[in-house]
Amino acid sequence: MSLIDATQTIPLGGPSLPQERRLVTAIPGPRSQELLDRKAAAVPAGVGHTVPVAAVAAGGGVVVDADGNSLIDLGAGIAVTTVGNAHPKVVAAVQAQIAQFAHTCFMIAPYESYVAVAEKLNELTPGSFTKKTALFNSGAEAVENAIKIARKHTGRQAVVAFDHGYHGRTNLTMALTAKAMPYKSGFGPFAPEVYRAPASYPFRDGLTGAEAAAKTISMIEKQIGADNLAAVIIEPIQGEGGFIVPADGYLPAVVEWCRAHGVVFIADEVQTGFARTGAMFASEHFGIEPDLITTAKGIAGGMPLAGVTGRAEIMDASHTGGLGGTYGGNPVACAAALATIEAYQEENLAERAVEIGRTLVARMQEAATSDPRIGEVRGLGAMIGVEFVDPATGAPDGALAGAIAKQAIAEGVIVLTCGTYGNVIRFLPPLSIDDALLHEGLDVVLGALAAS
Ligand SMILES: Cc1ncc(COP(=O)(O)O)c(C=O)c1O
Repeated sequence: MSLIDATQTIPLGGPSLPQERRLVTAIPGPRSQELLDRKAAAVPAGVGHTVPVAAVAAGGGVVVDADGNSLIDLGAGIAVTTVGNAHPKVVAAVQAQIAQFAHTCFMIAPYESYVAVAEKLNELTPGSFTKKTALFNSGAEAVENAIKIARKHTGRQAVVAFDHGYHGRTNLTMALTAKAMPYKSGFGPFAPEVYRAPASYPFRDGLTGAEAAAKTISMIEKQIGADNLAAVIIEPIQGEGGFIVPADGYLPAVVEWCRAHGVVFIADEVQTGFARTGAMFASEHFGIEPDLITTAKGIAGGMPLAGVTGRAEIMDASHTGGLGGTYGGNPVACAAALATIEAYQEENLAERAVEIGRTLVARMQEAATSDPRIGEVRGLGAMIGVEFVDPATGAPDGALAGAIAKQAIAEGVIVLTCGTYGNVIRFLPPLSIDDALLHEGLDVVLGALAAS
């Protein structure tokens, strides 16, 4: 049962793949369609997909499907393959580790690579204090554990999450996530003691950072009370919620309030982390030192790994055996993470993110001068969102964003949407994409906008 027949050569992934957009069939082609039919029969409908292809290889700035189509990748598997898919260093590290051992369970027989990843994260995350790190498998699991740790440390139960926030699809993280459809609807009851505060959304609320922070803090003080609050959890740039960059001063004011009241400030950097925004972590742009930082996605070049890093005295709050899991910090994923982090540093990928961001913003802002449906172009580094609106009313235009993404995908460019109102096109290319491919991808997206 293979999609590939004996006459077909499947290219190896990685940067040696031809860096080109190439359509040899309509999307989906017949082999992809065959897989999608099997998927529909074998996999529940709840597990959706955005791009109707059967992926067989990826690298640099492209994803190749089973029909031989080569699509430009402007999404990096939702900000995961930031270092590039099948990065040679990551491939070598994974191959070497799997040949040594695949698993002992870190809680049974510990190994060096877990400790080395912890040391790296302790060193690289913002905060000039002693830190510790625990490793997990997914972003949601990291968030769950950050909340556990904060509750244990403070002896308090309440947690504040934010309008437009996204933290995952497990029970606690559904409670923390703002948007009902598709993430929460029908899946309740949700975990208790989670409260939602207004965040800073300059394009829609028109507030300064100080004004937005005052609103947040007032809600917390009136509706929860600082003495009951264990943690505030926020994405420094809200990802799924619409690539919302908070107004200047907002995050520092919230951090300051947390510190004054013994509340643990958690930065969820699952989407913003690892060179994506032009710094290793987005918190650095805002001059904040979170008590805890959650990471995943870009950490290990596509291998599943996640972390909670933070102040040693908070991280040490749990009794022995309170944190962990069978697979958390798997040695193959840890080997991949060490290789990935080395590549970020050796290849100056944070700087590359800034360059890519300049191109994205310049192209989109140029389009905005003649197309009032572009309400705002925003973001940092290679994490750029374009919010589409009805020019007459400023109302979110989710249908337009959806139509652009659909058309771009049909023309061989993977582009994702996001936003509480579904009206934001988000650009998250792998940082291994070359300039020619990036421009070609944007030509297609802008062509789709013009045609919509
Ligand atoms: C900010 C943020 N937190 C948490 C998560 C959940 O991560 P995962 O899908 O690995 O559970 C995501 C995923 O998109 C995210 O963007």
